Amino acid sequence: MISWKDEYKIGVETIDNQHKKLFEIANTAYELLKNDTYIDKYDRIVQILEELKEYTKFHFKSEEEYMESIGYKRLLSQKVAHNDFIDKIYSINLSEIDENQDEYILEILDFIVNWISVHILESDMLITKA
Ligand SMILES: [Fe+2]
Repeated sequence: MISWKDEYKIGVETIDNQHKKLFEIANTAYELLKNDTYIDKYDRIVQILEELKEYTKFHFKSEEEYMESIGYKRLLSQKVAHNDFIDKIYSINLSEIDENQDEYILEILDFIVNWISVHILESDMLITKA
């Protein structure tokens, strides 16, 4: 599981809080995936993944608005990266999986969380140097 670290802070409170929230949602899904007390948790995990997708979309929009407001030079490449990621996560069709559901969901979660953390560290961080 990947949790929020202080090194992810870019120093813009609204954005930092949104990044934190993304990790919180992802962690809820990880926790549920690990939890063996539920007989059927698939629908719940799918629901959290949906929330994560929705929140990511909301966050990107809000981050782009912030970048625009400070006249950030790399806005266009950020938008491209954001849109690529959105396309990727929206092309995942969970209803098509019937075997190894847990493993597959874990892979998807790892992909989303890794992408977000690398994106924060490598791209969003540049905002502070703008
Ligand atoms: Fe971000």
